[in-house]
Amino acid sequence: MDRTPELLFYVNGRKVTEKNVDPETMLLPYLRKKLRLTGTKYGCGGGDCGACTVMISRYNPITKRIRHHPANACLIPICSLYGAAVTTVEGIGSTHTRIHPVQERIAKCHGTQCGFCTPGMVMSIYTLLRNHPEPTLDQLTDALGGNLCRCTGYRPIIDACKTFCKTSGCCQSKENGICCLDQGINGLPEFEEGSETSPKLFTEEEFLPLDPTQELIFPPELMIMAEKQPQRTRVFGSERMAWFSPVTLKELLELKFKYPQAPVVMGNTSVGPEVKFKGVFHPVIISPDRIEELSVIIHASNGLTLGAGLSLAQVKDILADVVQKLPEEKTQMYQALLKHLRTLAGSQIRNMASLGGHIISRHPDSDLNPLLAVGNCTLNLLSKEGKRQIPLNEQFLSKCPNADLKPQEILISVNIPYSRKWEFVSAFRQAQRQENALAIVNSGMKVFFGEEDGIIRELSISYGGIGPTTICAKNSCQKVIGRHWNEEMLDTACRLVLDEVSLPGSAPGGKVEFKRTLIISFLFKFYLEVSQILKKMNSVHYPSLADKYASALEDLHSRHHCSTLKYQKIGPKQHPEDPVGHPIMHLSGVKHATGEAIYCDDMPPVDQELFLTFVTSSRAHAKIVSIDLSEALSMPGVVDIMTAEHLSDVNSFCFFTETETFLATDKVFCVGHLVCAVLADSEVQAKRAAKRVKIVYQDLEPQILTIEEAIQHNSFFKPERKLEYGNVDEAFKVVDHILEGEIHMGGQEHFYMETQSMLVVPKGEDQEMDVYVSTQFPKYIQDIVASTLKLPANKVMCHVRRVGGAFGGKVFKTGTIAAVTAFAANKHGRAVRCVLERGEDMLITGGRHPYLGKYKAGFMNDGRILALDMEHYNNAGASLDESIFVIEMGLLKMDNAYKFPNLRCRGWACRTNLPSNMAFRGFGFPQAGLITESCIMEVAAKCGLSPEKVRMINMYKEIDQTPYKQEINAKNLAQCWRECMAMSSYSQRKVVVEKFNVENYWKKKGLAMIPLKFPVGLGSRAAGQVVSRELRMPMSNVHLRGTSTETVPNANVSGGSVVADLNGLAVKDACQTLLKRLEPIISKNPKGTWKDWAQTAFNESISLSAVGYFRGYESDMNWEKGEGHPFEYFVYGAACSEVEIDCLTGDHKNIRTDIVMDVGRSINPALDIGQIEGAFIQGMGLYTIEELNYSPQGVLHTRGPDQYKIPAICDMPTQLHISLLPPSQNSNTLYSSKGLGESGVFLGCSVFFAIHDAVSAARQERGLRGPLRLNSPLTPEKIRMACEDKFTKMIPRDEPGSYVPWNVPI
Ligand SMILES: Cc1cc2nc3c(=O)[nH]c(=O)nc-3n(C[C@H](O)[C@H](O)[C@H](O)COP(=O)(O)OP(=O)(O)OC[C@H]3O[C@@H](n4cnc5c(N)ncnc54)[C@H](O)[C@@H]3O)c2cc1C
Ligand code: FES
Ligand code: FES
Repeated sequence: MDRTPELLFYVNGRKVTEKNVDPETMLLPYLRKKLRLTGTKYGCGGGDCGACTVMISRYNPITKRIRHHPANACLIPICSLYGAAVTTVEGIGSTHTRIHPVQERIAKCHGTQCGFCTPGMVMSIYTLLRNHPEPTLDQLTDALGGNLCRCTGYRPIIDACKTFCKTSGCCQSKENGICCLDQGINGLPEFEEGSETSPKLFTEEEFLPLDPTQELIFPPELMIMAEKQPQRTRVFGSERMAWFSPVTLKELLELKFKYPQAPVVMGNTSVGPEVKFKGVFHPVIISPDRIEELSVIIHASNGLTLGAGLSLAQVKDILADVVQKLPEEKTQMYQALLKHLRTLAGSQIRNMASLGGHIISRHPDSDLNPLLAVGNCTLNLLSKEGKRQIPLNEQFLSKCPNADLKPQEILISVNIPYSRKWEFVSAFRQAQRQENALAIVNSGMKVFFGEEDGIIRELSISYGGIGPTTICAKNSCQKVIGRHWNEEMLDTACRLVLDEVSLPGSAPGGKVEFKRTLIISFLFKFYLEVSQILKKMNSVHYPSLADKYASALEDLHSRHHCSTLKYQKIGPKQHPEDPVGHPIMHLSGVKHATGEAIYCDDMPPVDQELFLTFVTSSRAHAKIVSIDLSEALSMPGVVDIMTAEHLSDVNSFCFFTETETFLATDKVFCVGHLVCAVLADSEVQAKRAAKRVKIVYQDLEPQILTIEEAIQHNSFFKPERKLEYGNVDEAFKVVDHILEGEIHMGGQEHFYMETQSMLVVPKGEDQEMDVYVSTQFPKYIQDIVASTLKLPANKVMCHVRRVGGAFGGKVFKTGTIAAVTAFAANKHGRAVRCVLERGEDMLITGGRHPYLGKYKAGFMNDGRILALDMEHYNNAGASLDESIFVIEMGLLKMDNAYKFPNLRCRGWACRTNLPSNMAFRGFGFPQAGLITESCIMEVAAKCGLSPEKVRMINMYKEIDQTPYKQEINAKNLAQCWRECMAMSSYSQRKVVVEKFNVENYWKKKGLAMIPLKFPVGLGSRAAGQVVSRELRMPMSNVHLRGTSTETVPNANVSGGSVVADLNGLAVKDACQTLLKRLEPIISKNPKGTWKDWAQTAFNESISLSAVGYFRGYESDMNWEKGEGHPFEYFVYGAACSEVEIDCLTGDHKNIRTDIVMDVGRSINPALDIGQIEGAFIQGMGLYTIEELNYSPQGVLHTRGPDQYKIPAICDMPTQLHISLLPPSQNSNTLYSSKGLGESGVFLGCSVFFAIHDAVSAARQERGLRGPLRLNSPLTPEKIRMACEDKFTKMIPRDEPGSYVPWNVPI
């Protein structure tokens, strides 16, 4: 077959032709590297994060319609784009021409922070608007379901998008018959005079209108091509691979006959990830996307026939339409499919993935296959030999050769029969996150009664997520045929199913007991659902379901969000041009939204640039016996492979008290330990070669993974830390009660959207080196690179234009990677780029420290805690990093808002064989605070008091002293608490929650309020406003550039909430220097402009360049004495959250959160609120769904957003209310503002404790007594298993030690 001379498609209205197309190339690298359209970002490469979202448009010459849909560029093979039009973020608007309303609104509504997710968000919304110019809120949340943001908490993004909706921004949940927007915040009066609040953070009136006529038109050339050009099979090929795209069914069958092993790629959402992450290689690919027969939609008398090539989004629309038109009894199956299609992946994947691809891939956790399997569906197959039909049943799903497609066969379509009268179908699923997450267990269930006697004639049940294939409980179903639909039948069915669908203790994916419980919990839900329908159909025959149980059937999901934000108004005396206190948009906001903001990997390649990739250890603790580089070195494009030997004397560096190495020498201490660095001409070549490096290991003992194992082996980093106040031992003698407990808290992955990235460029002169790097600490990178290269620091220039999220994760590990990259650049005198893939990043860099907290509390009957003895252990991993510092901060902050008159707290950093954990927003406080709050919960339970009462009675009172004897004034703490109580109508809602819990057995609500005292002082984005105020210059004259060690050679790390303080105070310092110099000129010409004054300064040779500097707050802490002044000031706050849980599945929904924060005098309320809510959502993720899993061999399982779930749009609280306290003076800080970057993370635990409250209610009702100890994160698994009931009792349990678990809690 002749090769097609060129690939032709359009990008942003411009024709792209590619003569030497490589079928292995995906659109994302093509856009970024070849077309230099770097607005489309890489975040994961697997379709899970949405950073690479683009719009694909195709013209169909038969229907004469253009279909626009969102897609993940990382999974689109460019060969599949022939004749398509691609629109990227650059194509819809730019600052050079005109920005698009979506770009404008997302920026002006403060929907960008680091901005890395923004282009993807913009493209998802843009595509939605192309199809629905006035979308509903449902369509909006649906469109954004596949886009992750780690910074904003989504509220401002939703607010921006809502401005396009016709409906108002109301929550649509008319509690008490009143809309949330009409209620104010629970009727709380406005703030006192002088601290009035402003309602909006943006001005809608100034927005550009959306004008669909202004959009790029579909390229006429492509239309003509589609209409007129003779259609032929297209063939593209490289040395390794061939791509065939036939036109007719006949040609397709010929090709499949010729290449029976070649996959038939439709959406590439199953084949793509396998190739990328599992190393599968296909020399031939057949792409049948032009075959009309694969897109059929036939409404026959017995059901629907849907073409295998229809996308899941199209299937969703078709089914929604059919469900509307046909009687309900015929559409049972379609409704069940629709339910799953709403949460299956994100909108991008649903638009790419095909029905056929979904069915044929037979993923064990497929959502649709278990349903289709119970629905008597048939598959219409075709090959050169003719047509054939096979049932979509268990044999097909388990790939039994006699029930499967033959290699030459194509799936043409699927028949999905209508349901019959007295037939009921249901779909169930539970995942770690409600949307865009593969199910832990899912199920399709169908029962057929035939008539109204309620006798089971047919029953089919199948499950996904349980084993390597979809499993049908066939025998169990057979055995209950002929029985009545009643509780005895249910009981028998549960036991039978548990027996048939068995799961070994060591099953992959873990959560074995949870899965077993879900199997029967879903069955129970089905039982209730059907019972209720039967009752509705014949109320005499069937007993009614007690109201108390009915809520088991309702879904928790809510797609409507509303928020109210209150912040301080500007005082009347403030100059109108002074921007301080105004909600000014991020200075790069518009550039984020247009894709013009340049991140490290967006920089164009430097001449002769090399790419560096690491080979990492696959063993947790082992001796390196040998490293064989020969095969890897012989691969094309490979320039060098460096090991510790090459770095020799510069391989080690001193970190605090420990000597550490960049590359492993003779031993490895964790899986992910850097062993060698491969340098090649391109990323692809470097990665291929890295796989060929052969390392022989010899395992060493002991292998320590968990904190408990570290304690056993006495494996700690020095020193141990202790903080003591009062006399604990004496106090224990006088208290009414003593309790002891412990809590375990899992770690957290930073999941900054931009992975670790850098480009090191030797300047070719005087050994100077430019390091372009995404880091929070340029000075550290400069130092470590300089010392590795044995250069004075002033020869190394470190440039940071912007960072795509960091949260503490882009400091020390970044330094290690930069040192090795710079070494390579120096050795070869060539520029070297190193950008980690998401999986590598997650494996290598570690994250927040897991914690074990043990407590012994002595307290009085009224809840006063008089004595507290605590032990903190963190899992530091294999190297010290900042682990002792984290322990110290944990000890210093563990008191949170409470005065413990007698306290002893000791802390240890455990040395284990895991990647080194490091700084993460909150720095030990989110863990230490949780331990303290858990202890308080237990004290409250023991005293029979509400946790809030115990919190209050122990809270700091105005002027007080911390355990390290620093004085504090906690007036604002009490004020935040009171304000939050009132704003959230805590007392009234507590009553409502209790009533709900009495009335509902399977759903429970919980309410919790948490105070916050967050010390700040460890030592830019408001910098523009500071310049404007200091120089009395309009904001429009201010331009900020990236930071560099050239301008500020010794800047401190931007972390610990002090970014605004550090940068802002430094900028203030510089501005004051400038003003002093300019004063004589200005006073001579007071009416002049900045331009005039600058000209005069130039004429008079007055320098207009000034450097400001603020190193950070002075802090001292004497650990020997246990006292000091470690912090400059305290941020106070309180948060109240209400959740609802599903006791049968462990699902939860955050219904409402109220946050009150004392921010001092807010410099930029939009920024402050953004920091609070962004941190809150990150904290909520930490305490509820973000779960890292390690194998017993220390291998991280969770290496991408497919397995590790950060909060998505579905996790936003249905209602979010944030209020900033009226300003208070805080003279040392910048304009009396307070650093807020980190404190909000801890407030996320209000959701943890609200769930705790709900679980407690369930347990009390079930008569379960005794302390309730719940570890963090409170995942669906933990929630479900804590709500013990007859189902958790029914499941088989495995004796610990009788099996090797899939994961170990570290
Ligand atoms: C980020 C992400 C999230 C996801 N989330 C979910 C989820 O929540 N729930 C869920 O159930 N699934 C989920 N999936 C899986 C997804 O549903 C499947 O990957 C998808 O449906 C496969 O369709 P495709 O067209 O992309 O298949 P492709 O990758 O194109 O092909 C898959 C396989 O099907 C074969 N094939 C395709 N069409 C035919 C045909 N007509 N005849 C014969 N063989 C054919 C191919 O040969 C190939 O082997 C997710 C996937 C991704 C990437
Ligand atoms: S990079 Fe494509 S979805 Fe994450
Ligand atoms: S702004 Fe969304 S990831 Fe940073």
